[in-house]
Amino acid sequence: MTRESFVIGVYLFAKNADEGQRSDGMKRYPPISSKVPAFLHGADYNPDQWLQYPGVFEEDIRLMKKAKCNVMSVGIFAWTALEPEEGVYRFEWLDRVLDTFAEHGIYAFLATPSGARPAWMSQRYPEVLRVGANRVRNLHGRRHNHCFTSPAYRRHVTRMNTQLAQRYAHHPAVIGWHVSNEYGGGCHCPYCQEAFRSWLKAKYGTLERLNEAWWTAFWSHTYTDWSQLESPAPHGEQETHGLNLDWRRFVTDQTVDFCRHEIAPLRAVRSDLPVTTNFMLAYEGLNYRKFSDLLDVISWDSYPTWHEADDDSDVAAWISLNHDYFRSLKDGRPFMLMESTPSNTNWQPISKLKRPGMHLLSSLQAVAHGSDTVQYFQWRKSRGSSEKFHGAVVDHAGHEHTRVFQDVAQVGEALEKLKDVIGTSVQPEAAIIFDWENRWAVKNAQGPRNQAIKYEETIRAHYRPFWEAGVPMDVIDSESDFSKYKLVVAPMLYMVRPGVGERLERFVENGGTLVATYWSGIVDENDLCFLGGFPGPLRKVLGIWSEEIDSLYDRDSNRVIPKEGGVLPLGSEYRAAELCDLIHLEGAEALAHYGGDFYAGRPALTVNRYGQGKAYYIASRNDASFHADFYSALIREMGIRRTIGTELPPGVTAQLRTDGTTDYVFLMNFSGKEQTVALDGKSYTDVLTGEALPPQVKLGVHGIVIAARPSE
Ligand code: GLA
Ligand code: ZN
Repeated sequence: MTRESFVIGVYLFAKNADEGQRSDGMKRYPPISSKVPAFLHGADYNPDQWLQYPGVFEEDIRLMKKAKCNVMSVGIFAWTALEPEEGVYRFEWLDRVLDTFAEHGIYAFLATPSGARPAWMSQRYPEVLRVGANRVRNLHGRRHNHCFTSPAYRRHVTRMNTQLAQRYAHHPAVIGWHVSNEYGGGCHCPYCQEAFRSWLKAKYGTLERLNEAWWTAFWSHTYTDWSQLESPAPHGEQETHGLNLDWRRFVTDQTVDFCRHEIAPLRAVRSDLPVTTNFMLAYEGLNYRKFSDLLDVISWDSYPTWHEADDDSDVAAWISLNHDYFRSLKDGRPFMLMESTPSNTNWQPISKLKRPGMHLLSSLQAVAHGSDTVQYFQWRKSRGSSEKFHGAVVDHAGHEHTRVFQDVAQVGEALEKLKDVIGTSVQPEAAIIFDWENRWAVKNAQGPRNQAIKYEETIRAHYRPFWEAGVPMDVIDSESDFSKYKLVVAPMLYMVRPGVGERLERFVENGGTLVATYWSGIVDENDLCFLGGFPGPLRKVLGIWSEEIDSLYDRDSNRVIPKEGGVLPLGSEYRAAELCDLIHLEGAEALAHYGGDFYAGRPALTVNRYGQGKAYYIASRNDASFHADFYSALIREMGIRRTIGTELPPGVTAQLRTDGTTDYVFLMNFSGKEQTVALDGKSYTDVLTGEALPPQVKLGVHGIVIAARPSE
């Protein structure tokens, strides 16, 4: 393609996209880049590692086209290649890469290189190096280890990002910014301590208020001067829960602030290029939700441990939950699968190859949940250093005649056929609350189960039945808007921040259904226990009082016995283990009771009718069969929309994207066995083959079928 025809193509697509927007209403989002008439398919590309190898770049271009790749994330760790000495820039190699891309219809998400630093910088400005919680400053090395506060680092970042923006923001190949890489961790240097103190001052105003919020009279930990405040440390303060919580909040805010600082020079030059930064799977260290307003598009890096078991359902449901979480960060807007491996990783305990079919299935799984891209780490396998054995599109063998390369090309082909899915949305009627501040607090609590409180496992357990039933879900936090859902599931909502109880009450009052569990409504936003009875602000809507919670040894269990003829059809008995709440009814009705121990006969599952809606309380940690039965009964009773109206075989899920006119149904088989899905009598076309689908659809091992039907 010549540069002119490339530019004309871009213009025509942008025009069509605008028209598409107008004609099909509110359910289709604009494409991530108005320039690209296709799904984005590509990889992290590090040509700066290959500058001394003549011919490699030309070969890469040939191979990119063969693999049907149209986007590369370039320059992620290229700071030294771009600035070998302070103030001395080398852009020629990047000019050549981007110019050649433009000639060949390949686009770039251009990276800012702050994820790793040149050695000269660490040497001349040691303050850029991160200080650990033990107050020891790192030596130069590795990556992702800079101080987010250091004025010197911020200055260098501004300088570099300004150069990049001025030179490339209007380059025809550049369609967006990939800011830094996988932000994470905190720094405990003097600058960060000072920033933390200012953050605390702004939050509390007076030391009295801080001391009260942190309950510092305990162990005589009262602060009498702001200068005494320090971040948590292994050899210092660790057990003031309010401090731990505020430190985590500060680390998030400081990282967001750093990210904003990175973005400012980019947007100053050109404000309409989409900006993203790549996130990590359920990464606990940062409350990603706080980045949503700053970023134009959410992207994340997914590295599942496929084939751990013969049946991949467990991993698949967890990855599905993560896709839903990242999509929900920006209220349902399509996101980017920024990284995934085309074959194996080299950092998991066991780096197993993807079995045939899994690459297509796992790539399109992201699409099924709302991704408008499929991207990899990385394009060409590094020759040396720590990732030389990590899977890549182009192997050390250097050509396209590999299984992995063919798998990638197959995804490229499939994405071309899925063009109409771009910008469609998932429209869930149910959501689960997976709340980061709650996660921090519940795990830090020193309570009934220090061995493992299992917050994430509990979220997974409550999400799984929806995945099995093919019910699209949002994964939200307690500050999200509940009003658009019919059902909100809030497992272990230990921390209830101001306003949340009231909003959940209103949600139920207006006809919503809430499911809450044991160990909820225990503390406020400062990790201070609610006085006057648990579950605190949820007590009224749930219609129960939780007097005590029993924590069981692993050898112990109890029984949960549903009442015959209760409002939900349940089995005759379930196993409870680990945590059993001892509750009193305060308006709620018991749907099941405990079968054993000194609390036999007391309520184990309740429902409270409140306003137009219902609030369920699951008092104990129950086995998977309880969740399966309870939630499928609820889905049926409430008429929650399932992607297809028939029963799915185990290990098969169905997810939905729609523009309101056409539904795209993704039938995905993670069971490790061949399966047959009975369709629901509607007429379906196989999007990949263009053929009408029979009423019984066969899915091979790791098989996927994408079926289009008219929306209702
Ligand atoms: C992360 C990083 C990449 C690479 C991959 C390897 O996601 O962002 O640079 O290290 O892991 O899986
Ligand atoms: Zn610092």
